[in-house]
Parts: sequence; C-alpha cells; structure tokens
Amino acid sequence: MKIAVLPGDGIGTEIVAEAVKVLKVLDLPLEMETALVGGAAYEAHGHPLPESTLKLAMASDAVLFGAVGDWKYDKLDRPLRPEQAILGLRKNMGLFANFRPAICYEQLVGASSLKPELISGLDILIIRELTGDIYFGQPRGRRIATDGHFPGAEEAFDTMRYSRPEIERIAHVAFQAAQKRSKRVTSVDKNNVLETSQLWKDVMIEVAQQYPDVALDHMLVDNAAMQLVKAPKAFDVLVTGNMFGDILSDEASMLTGSIGMLPSASLNAQGQGLYEPSHGSAPDIAGKGIANPLATILSVAMMLRFSLNQEAAALRIEAAVQKVLQQGLRTGDIYSEGTTRVSTVQMGDAVARAL
Ligand code: IPM
Ligand code: MG
Repeated sequence: MKIAVLPGDGIGTEIVAEAVKVLKVLDLPLEMETALVGGAAYEAHGHPLPESTLKLAMASDAVLFGAVGDWKYDKLDRPLRPEQAILGLRKNMGLFANFRPAICYEQLVGASSLKPELISGLDILIIRELTGDIYFGQPRGRRIATDGHFPGAEEAFDTMRYSRPEIERIAHVAFQAAQKRSKRVTSVDKNNVLETSQLWKDVMIEVAQQYPDVALDHMLVDNAAMQLVKAPKAFDVLVTGNMFGDILSDEASMLTGSIGMLPSASLNAQGQGLYEPSHGSAPDIAGKGIANPLATILSVAMMLRFSLNQEAAALRIEAAVQKVLQQGLRTGDIYSEGTTRVSTVQMGDAVARAL
C-alpha cells in the first residue's frame, strides 16, 4: 500500500508529522513518500502542484494531505497560488466525493460555542461535491482588465455550472451512505434563485427513486446555514455542491468544538482517496507548535477505512483519540478549564501512546 504524504504549508507540516507518527505505530505494510505541494512547492519548483507531485499522488493508493496557502502568495497570478494545488489534485484525480463527518465527542461538548444540549451526541455527515460548481466553471476571469492582468479590473465573473452526470454520481454516493446510517438525506441547494440548483434538485429527486428505503428532503442553503446552528441533530446525511459544501462544512465543524477536529476524505470512482483535515494552513499559528493534529489523525483513520481496507486499524485510531480526550489532553483550540493544555507534538505522542 503506497501513500503519498503531502504536508504543504503553514501548520500542514506540523500536523502531518503527527499523523505519520501515529500511522507508523500501527506497523502496517505501508510505503510512504513525501513531496512538496502548495506554497512550499512554488518556492522550490515555481509551481504549487509540480508534475512530480501529481504523478506521485496518482500512483498512490491514498494521499495524506496537510494544508496549503499563505497570505504572502495573495499577489500571485491565480494559477500559481497554493490553493490551486489542492484543486488540481481533486480535479486530476477525479476526487468528486468529499466526506466531512461532524461528530461531537462527549468530552468536547463544553468546547463548542453552542449550548451542550444542542450538540451532545451529534453525528452528521456532510457530503460535498468536489470537482464541479463555481470552483471549476468556465469561463472565469476579470472583464475589462487593464493589460490582461487583474489589478484595476472593473468587473469580474465566475461561472456556476453542474452537469446531470456530475449530480447523479454524488447523489448515489449520498443515498448509499444514508443506507448505512439513518436512511435520511437532506439535499441543500438554492433552487429559488439558481438554475444549477434547480437541476441539482431535479436530479436528486430522480436518483432517489432508486433508493426507496431512503427519505429525501430539500433545504435552501441559507435556511440550512441557520438550521445547522439551531437544531444540528435534525440532520443526518447532508449532500450539497462544492461552494455550499465548503461553507457549510466550516460551519458544521464548530458544532464539534473546533475546526481542528474535523477530518475529511475525498474519493474518486476507483476508491483512491485524498485525506486531509477540513481546516486550512492557519499561517497565523504556524511554527508555534500549538495546532491541533487530531483532524489529520482522524483523516488517517478515514484513509485506513476507505482506501486501504483496514477497518480495525481505523477503529483503533478513533478509540485512541477518544482516549486522549478522556485523559483531558487539549490543544489550545479545544482547551477549557480543568483540562490539560498540550502542544501539537504532545498530542501526537499521546495518541501514539494510547494506540
Ligand atoms: C477546503 C478549503 C479549500 C476549498 C481551499 C483551500 C481551496 O477551504 O478544502 O474546504 O475551498 O475547497
Ligand atoms: Mg473550506
């Protein structure tokens, strides 16, 4: 089993180091190869997703990804910005199905900004379509640019588009995931305004015919954003497009106590996957040793489950995370009175020991 390890920028290197540490404790027959991605790759090779990194990722069973981005690259032409690396990996590998589970661990109920009774026992699954929508719409650009470059442009546009097959395949993923859970899917769109959303809703209803055991309902995205903080436990599987899924998954992460707890899996039709925390590179806290590595460690568990067929090992990691939380260990983002504040490395060490 071959794993491409792409730490990236900012806290990416720190959290991935802890995830690799945990993975090594399992002593599985794994081959790991590390490569540069994002701003780090731009510095070294002049491109955020060098050919060699993409090749390595495509030739691996799974990719363990940290995070990319830094404000210092904001002035670069868009194709050279760090974020293009993750978008390029998703598109080139066909990673259309993004799983972002939001589970509130009992020990962290107090760490959320919401009332404990709202989130205690929370276990929802956001399924985000990842290779379509306004992220990849054509054409895109700034109209009336001075010299073909953006400064000074008077108008800009991006195109939101979805095709029927793109919606169908993510619908199947959502209904099949729901069959293994409470058999309910909420499809989130903005069909009162957008044609892409009307198509999305129509196709969801069509595909639902093939899953008579699953109940489908629909919610407008603005209402969904409100319901997520009003009554989050009313959701089970939430399926939505790329842009809405980006926003709602950040929102949902706070239901779990911290965005530092939310893992993710991005899968293609062949079962290859990219695993990354849902959070970003957090340049403001990079290098301080205070980032929470648990989202990345939990992403490793998802990798073992979805791409490497190692369910038992995945469960062991999840149990180890529970155990360190039980022991009262907390990075700053999930710290509350009466618990023990630990660093990124100490948290990784603790999970390794618990394993
Ligand atoms: C995410 C991130 C990315 C996205 C960025 C880094 C391009 O926010 O994975 O949620 O928007 O998809
Ligand atoms: Mg995001």
